[in-house]
Amino acid sequence: MADKKAYLKIDGVEETIELPVLHGTEGPDVVDVRALTAQGLFTYDPGFVSTAACDSAITFIDGGKGILLHGGYPIEQLAEKSDYMEVCYLLLNGELPNAEQKQEFVNTVKNHTMVHEQLSHFYNGFRRDAHPMAILCGVVGALSAFYHDSLDIDDAHHREVCAYRLVAKMPTLAAMCYKYSNGQPFMYPRNDLSYAENFLYMMFGTPCEEYVPNPVLTKAMDRIFVLHADHEQNASTSTVRLAGSSGANPFACIASGIAALWGPAHGGANEAVLTMLEEIGDADNIPEFIEKAKDPNDPFRLMGFGHRVYRNFDPRAKVMKVSCDEVLKELGLENDPLLKIAKQLEQIALEDEYFVSRKLYPNVDFYSGIILKAMGIPTSMFTVIFALSRTIGWISHWNEFHSSPNRIGRPRQLYTGPTKRDYPG
Ligand code: CMC
Repeated sequence: MADKKAYLKIDGVEETIELPVLHGTEGPDVVDVRALTAQGLFTYDPGFVSTAACDSAITFIDGGKGILLHGGYPIEQLAEKSDYMEVCYLLLNGELPNAEQKQEFVNTVKNHTMVHEQLSHFYNGFRRDAHPMAILCGVVGALSAFYHDSLDIDDAHHREVCAYRLVAKMPTLAAMCYKYSNGQPFMYPRNDLSYAENFLYMMFGTPCEEYVPNPVLTKAMDRIFVLHADHEQNASTSTVRLAGSSGANPFACIASGIAALWGPAHGGANEAVLTMLEEIGDADNIPEFIEKAKDPNDPFRLMGFGHRVYRNFDPRAKVMKVSCDEVLKELGLENDPLLKIAKQLEQIALEDEYFVSRKLYPNVDFYSGIILKAMGIPTSMFTVIFALSRTIGWISHWNEFHSSPNRIGRPRQLYTGPTKRDYPG
């Protein structure tokens, strides 16, 4: 909707440019700059700090107030009352399912949990010590060579089947990354288990012994999936949308999202938090690391702190902290030294002028790593679990993009290279 206007006056240009101001259902108004190209002008916004690149009805974030809504529902309520399957349905369809719709959704996902047997051979091409994110990126990209029956991106049913397949197969593929690294046999999915139970079974079960999922750990795992399910137009989701805008294969688009997520400024931060806590080693060393983080000449940053959008507590971090306490209590690890360091670090940073004035609060990755480590999941798998959880967000945004008229994404630039010159000689 546009009932306000913005006016742009450029020095030396007689005419004032009139631009519509759009407003959504929540959030700041948006100046529609599309008409500027016709005037020979572009806008300049490295890092997309002030740019809305699309319309979206999936997720809303108010970074100042620390609010995160999926389909209008606050993340805290979803984490407490809902579960990952329901949140997946919500992100894909825009509404919560009724009991029948939910059962049908869960059953459909279960029908797709196995991966093509041929795909398991791809793992053998990787070194055993390959980073699991490198493997995941490769095998998810490889899915694009397997499922040719549902690749018409203009067909809503085909897009839906792609989403089911991805949500269903990600835990299988992720657990296979882990099993490959430790030399244990791949475990086939078990459809009598819940989504989170099945993932833990494929991670920690072996053919030699019965695996009995722990309900506290299963709940915590499901909650980690819920808390990571979507986060509007972050770097990896924007990557998936941009790759998808060319009409690329959906599985290849998700692989591009996995690649973008891997970086330590994004999903790789959960792994980096644990590495940092281990490096700090003792609470006495915290001040030294705080000083390093504050030093403008030192590239070190406090991992798990700060966020492009949140200038307040990340609401996901608050829930994660509660989950962290529950898991450590269940496992008798309340006195875990890394948790102690994490808690003290958080306290010191929250009171330090540098972090306070920049509004740097703990983000979702600060506590998730401690939970995952306590569950026995190796650090290198942390970002893989983030990718597994975020796949529903990526595919929902990809689906939304293709559900209405769209254009290929093509940012422009402020050129600063040499002007035209003749080739020598
Ligand atoms: N430690 C120390 N200083 C920081 C940190 C940090 N973690 N984060 C930001 N700053 C400082 C930064 O140096 C800058 O200071 P100054 O104004 O003096 O130059 C100021 O705060 C603003 O930072 P910025 O780099 O402009 O912020 P950004 O929005 O571009 O970056 C971020 C956001 C998440 C990449 C950054 O906060 C960061 O690197 N955090 C650590 C990595 C991390 O935890 N990432 C996970 C994000 S949440 C999960 C996800 O969505 O993937």
